[in-house]
Amino acid sequence: MPAVRGDEPFALVRRWLDEAASAGGRNTNAMALATVGEDGRPAVRMVLLKEISETHGYVVFYTNYRSRKARELERHPWAAAALYWPGLGRQLRLEGRVVRSPEDESDAYFATRPYLSQLNAWVSAQSEPLADGDDLERRAATKAAELGGTATEAPTAGVPRPPFWGGYRLWCDRVELWIEGAGRFHERTEYTRDLDLAADRIDAGPWRSRRLQP
Ligand SMILES: Cc1cc2nc3c(=O)[nH]c(=O)nc-3n(C[C@H](O)[C@H](O)[C@H](O)COP(=O)(O)O)c2cc1C
Repeated sequence: MPAVRGDEPFALVRRWLDEAASAGGRNTNAMALATVGEDGRPAVRMVLLKEISETHGYVVFYTNYRSRKARELERHPWAAAALYWPGLGRQLRLEGRVVRSPEDESDAYFATRPYLSQLNAWVSAQSEPLADGDDLERRAATKAAELGGTATEAPTAGVPRPPFWGGYRLWCDRVELWIEGAGRFHERTEYTRDLDLAADRIDAGPWRSRRLQP
């Protein structure tokens, strides 16, 4: 069936994110991100949805490429995410294929981060055990000196992005917009499309939509 304009969910996804941000509160772009482990078991944790492509229908989050979630994604590159805004009575669900962001895009985003976030991205081996007596602050001070800065002052040349840290794009093939309704007659609209996975790119088919029972 050919896509009709009303079938495209991403303009609404953008609007919902903007309206959640305007409504105020902390981390209105936080999403629970589920991945699948080697043993087939799901794991979930919060990450921040940082960018959205309405044109391609993907969202972007940033993380450590050696973290548990990244290891799981490299092995099984599919993920599901959910955002919930209680004040607005809205839930957004996103599912699809995950690919690393281009390096220049991760560089550009990393450059916008506060100095301590940049420094600590270098220092934390995210998801690894914290050894007894391991001193993150001491390692941060050592790294800061190595980069030409201090614990509080950024080096004039800035901080380069660690090669093990960057973005992931979640290319959605399923999106659900959920609106709280009276008497639990919630309004659910599900959007799906096919993703054609080539070695170096993803081609997305047209969106289809249908209503779901609450
Ligand atoms: C509100 C919130 C936002 C977070 N955002 C991120 C994020 O954008 N990237 C990230 O790597 N971790 C983020 N975290 C930390 C993760 O939830 C998690 O602890 C970390 O990524 C390690 O997960 P893993 O061991 O499953 O890889 C956030 C946590 C919270 C509570």
